Amino acid sequence: MQLHLAVVLLCATSGLFANAGAEDPYRFFDWNVTFGDIYPLGVRQTGILINGQFPGPDIHSVTNDNLIINVHNSLNEPFLISWSGIQQRRNSYEDGVYGTTCPIPPGKNFTYILQVKDQIGSFFYFPSLAFHKAAGGFGGIRILSRPRIPVPFPDPAGDYTVLIGDWYKSNHTNLKARLDRGKKLPFPDGILINGRGPGGASFNVEQGKTYRLRISNVGLQNSLNFRIQNHRLTLVEVEGTHTLQTTYSSIDLHLGQSCSVLFKADQPAKDYYIAVSTRFTSRVLTSTAILRYSNSAGPVSGPPPGGPTIQIDWSLNQARSIRTNLTASGPRPNPQGSYHYGLINTTKTIRLANSAGQVNGKQRYAVNSVSFVPEDTPLKLADYFKIGGVFRVGSISDNPYGGKIYLDTSVMQADYRAFIEIVFQNNENIVQSWHLDGYSFFVVGMDGGQWTTASRREYNLRDAVSRCTTQVYPKSWTAIYVALDNVGMWNLRSEFWARQYLGQQFYLRVYTTSTSLRDEYPIPKNALLCGRASGRHTRPL
Ligand SMILES: *[C@@H]1O[C@H](CO)[C@@H](O)[C@H](O)[C@H]1NC(C)=O
Ligand SMILES: *[C@@H]1O[C@H](CO)[C@@H](O)[C@H](O)[C@H]1NC(C)=O
Ligand SMILES: *[C@@H]1O[C@H](CO)[C@@H](O)[C@H](O)[C@H]1NC(C)=O
Ligand SMILES: *[C@@H]1O[C@H](CO)[C@@H](O)[C@H](O)[C@H]1NC(C)=O
Ligand SMILES: *[C@@H]1O[C@H](CO)[C@@H](O)[C@H](O)[C@H]1NC(C)=O
Repeated sequence: MQLHLAVVLLCATSGLFANAGAEDPYRFFDWNVTFGDIYPLGVRQTGILINGQFPGPDIHSVTNDNLIINVHNSLNEPFLISWSGIQQRRNSYEDGVYGTTCPIPPGKNFTYILQVKDQIGSFFYFPSLAFHKAAGGFGGIRILSRPRIPVPFPDPAGDYTVLIGDWYKSNHTNLKARLDRGKKLPFPDGILINGRGPGGASFNVEQGKTYRLRISNVGLQNSLNFRIQNHRLTLVEVEGTHTLQTTYSSIDLHLGQSCSVLFKADQPAKDYYIAVSTRFTSRVLTSTAILRYSNSAGPVSGPPPGGPTIQIDWSLNQARSIRTNLTASGPRPNPQGSYHYGLINTTKTIRLANSAGQVNGKQRYAVNSVSFVPEDTPLKLADYFKIGGVFRVGSISDNPYGGKIYLDTSVMQADYRAFIEIVFQNNENIVQSWHLDGYSFFVVGMDGGQWTTASRREYNLRDAVSRCTTQVYPKSWTAIYVALDNVGMWNLRSEFWARQYLGQQFYLRVYTTSTSLRDEYPIPKNALLCGRASGRHTRPL
């Protein structure tokens, strides 16, 4: 595989890409990123458009495809895109977060070379720098199963991307300036569904047919509940795992999470509300879109359907009911249940606690007391070029110890091929959502209170879902198992975006002494170099 990748890289520079003759197909994307006027909540705002679109175009792919994405940064500021849930095996250089990848300077372009190796499912991309996510620049990613791999439900009549998220009328530079001054953000102004405010987005269906919706919470701050008036939703996939097909009246999606639901257009032919509202907030924001039957006899009627609001138990019970269908195939033909994660002994437990507080009179957020601050050089590049003084391994403890919040460029090291347990302890009164790049992990348990070793007795060691983003309820814990089979520098972050921006993240350096290309690809030949890595050579001569 690494040889094949090298061939591709050479061809890229000589413009012979399509002739690379590799075993896995290539898909090419040419994206122009610009600022443009958008009016999602009725007022003019500066949005981030991709090829003139807000939200950006979907990426459609099939397991193992190579995605060659040439991103032209036509903004007047540096820009990076990250690919939430795309594992980039052995290749954290392409991850598109500032700890791994240099920003694309204004007026320049950079070609991401990704492979959706051994993956299926619904994900999204988003801009990772400078609070750009508050301006758009996000879009859906779907990875279909290869033709001969069975999917545990019939092909739907339509397959729609539904990006939901809370939204501010303030532009991203104003929001960022507020955070830079050390202030918290106010409550958002509304919720967008595919970039549109209340009543703006619509989805067309034919009576009697079944549709798939791939829903992602691309918002900044709030868990959201999704529902369709008079229709039931059958959950079939979360972040690459085919779930036991369970039917719900509504679904909670926490920050950064994605899932697929099927629903049948089995109601009298008219228009219906799709409703999305904030969860666990005292003021509830609600937005709607329209489900339109092709033979619709009339517009939406009645109030939009109500959903759960502050109830945590409802959400916890739903989360626990989301299980892996062990007999269904995932990306490979063999059943998802053939990997018995519950029988593997963990070799290490990492406990992570989030906290909020002030440092030098400014609002910060921390993990195990460390509030992450970026360095002048991406950590992965410092690692590759052996540039000292950028980060220290062990600059974050693997257990909370209750110390005061301090600033550091936090990197935790873990051994390649270890099988570890991570416990997220949330002693705060907010819903937390954690995402780990480069991996998916088994969500083995979650409950209220403090995690103790006795909490392991309630783990689901049989059919927990494997995903890349998990919530932690207020004053609660969530435990995950992760097989550290992907060497690299991987961002572990809060998806609560102001928290991420103000330090609630760190990098997990999954390390091996091996320099074999089987374990990690070399730095991409086209890698941008910046900071103290400027002027280095991406290949030894
Ligand atoms: C990107 O779009 C801007 C605005 O339409 C245009 O001026 C620029 O030439 C485009 N760049 C590329 C590489 O297409
Ligand atoms: C955001 O709005 C401020 C004025 O409130 C303006 O100065 C700034 O240029 C705007 N930013 C963008 C990216 O449009
Ligand atoms: C920039 O885009 C051009 C085509 O528009 C392409 O030939 C070139 O390889 C790209 N550069 C990088 C660094 O990706
Ligand atoms: C699980 O997947 C199988 C396909 O292997 C499918 O026939 C079955 O309906 C699925 N069961 C549930 C409950 O989703
Ligand atoms: C896990 O640990 C237990 C107890 O130490 C041991 O009996 C068992 O063989 C181990 N299992 C594996 C798969 O290594």
